[in-house]
Amino acid sequence: MCIAVAIDGPAGAGKSSVAKAVGKQLGLLYVDTGALYRTVGLAALRKGVDPSSKAEVEALLKEISVEMDFSETSGQVVLLNGEDVTGLIRTPEVSMTASDISALPIVREYLLGLQRNIAKTKNVIMDGRDIGTVVLPDAQVKIFLTASPESRAERRYKELVEKGEKTTVKDVLRDVIKRDYNDTNRKAAPLRPAEDSVLVDTTNLDFDGSVEAVAKIIRERIS
Ligand code: DC
Repeated sequence: MCIAVAIDGPAGAGKSSVAKAVGKQLGLLYVDTGALYRTVGLAALRKGVDPSSKAEVEALLKEISVEMDFSETSGQVVLLNGEDVTGLIRTPEVSMTASDISALPIVREYLLGLQRNIAKTKNVIMDGRDIGTVVLPDAQVKIFLTASPESRAERRYKELVEKGEKTTVKDVLRDVIKRDYNDTNRKAAPLRPAEDSVLVDTTNLDFDGSVEAVAKIIRERIS
């Protein structure tokens, strides 16, 4: 049986960077499921589809193909209708559209099989919002990674500025709070810790400390 580690938590808690580093350390394939919702969000933006309209999104899903691929050199890539859109899905606009569109059960259903299939054949550390609760309920290790909204906004702000985005901490904090609200209050697979998950709060941990805390929990449960 393959090893599966589920890492869930709110936006900006450091899930992706921490999970990627832990995956490298422990030999687990890092899978960022948010990239899939972002790809659907990008498709909606490109076509002018209202992300809250079930009918419009349903029609969109029939027209598009979303794939995830892994390569030694570029790591995880996402393809929209065969086009590599990995570099186009990290803007604040795509973030918000992904959050809105992910509230629709048809979108969650559409992406479910894809996520489960990856974990069927590979040892994974998969990050998202509902990995421990819905996608991989039998994962051997489930971690809920969180931090205060302010420290998450601060980290996200730094990332965006490094990528050349023009924004302010205030705007990023507003987006973080709005996305938290969306992700936690939606009816379909809301963000919440799985009952058997371990809570890791990274507010007062630096990156290395967060990686060590998560790696330790996994080692204890898997060895
Ligand atoms: O992890 P992220 O910020 O890249 O995710 C973008 C959006 O996708 C997030 O606001 C909520 C949604 N998402 C989800 O609903 N379920 C997941 N497993 C991953 C992401």
